[in-house]
Amino acid sequence: MKKQIAELLSSKIDELSAEEIAGLLEVPPKQDMGDFAFPCFRLAKIYHKAPPLIASDIAASIGEQPFLSQIKTAGGYINFFVNRQEYAKQIISEFRAADSFGASETGKGKTICIDYSSPNVAKNFHIGHLRTTIIGNSLYKIFSKLGYKVVRINHLGDWGTQFGKLIVAYKRWGSKEEVEEKGIQELMDIYVKFHQEAEKDPALEDEAREAFAKMEQGDEEYLAIWQWFREISLKEFMRVYNLLDIDFDAYTGESFYRNMTKNVVDVLTEKGLLVESEGALVVRLDDYDMPPCIVAKKDGSSIYATRDLAAILYRKKTYDFDKCLYVTGLEQKLHFAQVFKVIELMGNDYAKDLVHIPYGLVSLKDGKMSSRTGNVIYAEDILKESIGKTSAIIEEKNPDIPEKEEVAKIVGIGAIIFNDLYNQRIKDVVFDWNKLLNFDGETGPYVQYTYARASSVLRKIGDIPEEIDYSLLTDDASLELLKTIERYPDIIVDAASKFEPFIISRYSMDVAHAFNKFYQACQINVSDENLKFARANLVKIARWVIKDSLSLLGMKCPEQM
Ligand code: ARG
Repeated sequence: MKKQIAELLSSKIDELSAEEIAGLLEVPPKQDMGDFAFPCFRLAKIYHKAPPLIASDIAASIGEQPFLSQIKTAGGYINFFVNRQEYAKQIISEFRAADSFGASETGKGKTICIDYSSPNVAKNFHIGHLRTTIIGNSLYKIFSKLGYKVVRINHLGDWGTQFGKLIVAYKRWGSKEEVEEKGIQELMDIYVKFHQEAEKDPALEDEAREAFAKMEQGDEEYLAIWQWFREISLKEFMRVYNLLDIDFDAYTGESFYRNMTKNVVDVLTEKGLLVESEGALVVRLDDYDMPPCIVAKKDGSSIYATRDLAAILYRKKTYDFDKCLYVTGLEQKLHFAQVFKVIELMGNDYAKDLVHIPYGLVSLKDGKMSSRTGNVIYAEDILKESIGKTSAIIEEKNPDIPEKEEVAKIVGIGAIIFNDLYNQRIKDVVFDWNKLLNFDGETGPYVQYTYARASSVLRKIGDIPEEIDYSLLTDDASLELLKTIERYPDIIVDAASKFEPFIISRYSMDVAHAFNKFYQACQINVSDENLKFARANLVKIARWVIKDSLSLLGMKCPEQM
């Protein structure tokens, strides 16, 4: 309908395309101001006339239209009132005609790499990594919906000097049994011990550097130990991915690039970009107001940035991406700015397609949580705690539903995801259990509950015929719900272009609100069959949109809760 209005207007306004007009069309805050409004202020300069005059001239030139019931002007606005019956028919038919409403082919033939989650081997998977995992997964779903081929890359932190330290620590104070029994926790403990001991005996640092240098040269004994640490860590990470139902296309961590870092140094040398600085090799970035990007340390070993440079060259060659996204905390902003700049200085124009997607910090409202160690909060603990708390709520509110455990998992995990994705990425996230698990608040459980309610209505009605008397869907609440549904395709495009999943979560909340208003205002299971079926059809569509939009966040929906 919006498109039709835009086309109609563009036939009256030579200076603006239908697309530009569609971008300017607004949805007025109140229903008595119409369903769509076109502001004429921008035209004032072109026509050298006052906006209200332009509005009334254009309005007068538009004759009767089958899809509009009324056109009014107010101030500099033209207000359009849709023909509600026609509108219901259009939205519902459009919904049915599409294979998957909101999907598009915009991204056909294009590839997007998303580098996300990427926890560090031998370190705990903490709540910060939970954010990159949740945001990255949602971006994957959103871009896939728009037809892009998405490559999900887990750039594990599995290489670097810290592994030299770990190996030294393990050889001195570790035991196979302890590591096997306690996993990452034990690796973290011996790592801490290394630092304590190194305070007293600085020679340990040199030993660790040497150990890492040996790893880079392919020392078999050290690599076997490292490989073992990596496997143990991955097993723990997989537990978090299984809880979240998340998968990757490649677990190509930093170690994957260990034989490609020499090439990075060669290319940079060849291009004359490398200079020596205190024994290290760096690319100076003074011209861009950034500190130098270190590419090789004194002993020749690579660092985090070197491996990121190698990864970019590899990904471009392997996937020929149209964009490569990096989802990490804001604190890595400078790192990525430096690395992207070096890629550009190498002469790669695709440097512009590398995008850092930063996000804010996570904290706990009351600071209390059943975390295993002092202040590091394990992602797994927080997910399980949420499932446990949800389980208790279900026991109290609705203990007789089937598959209680599965429902608690879907809702408990969903609550965490929704809380994470409800604001702009860059905003900090607070874990406030009372808030995020409130079934009546602005929460995941609330939207999921709305879905379950819609499911329950449809279960009671049973089969519904597709033919509808559209004139029965012209009340305010039905119109509002239809209008909300109509926005879905644009919402997805908007979320993708800004790399912002919160646009989807807010939208799913809008659908839930519009649905619940409709549910209050319009009794569905009425004796008049025509009315019942017309409304049930609308319930069906709203239910689908809720489920689909939540799936773009990485959430599932229970049929009962
Ligand atoms: N392992 C890093 C960390 O935990 C994140 C890696 C992000 N990706 C990358 N290509 N640098 O902070």
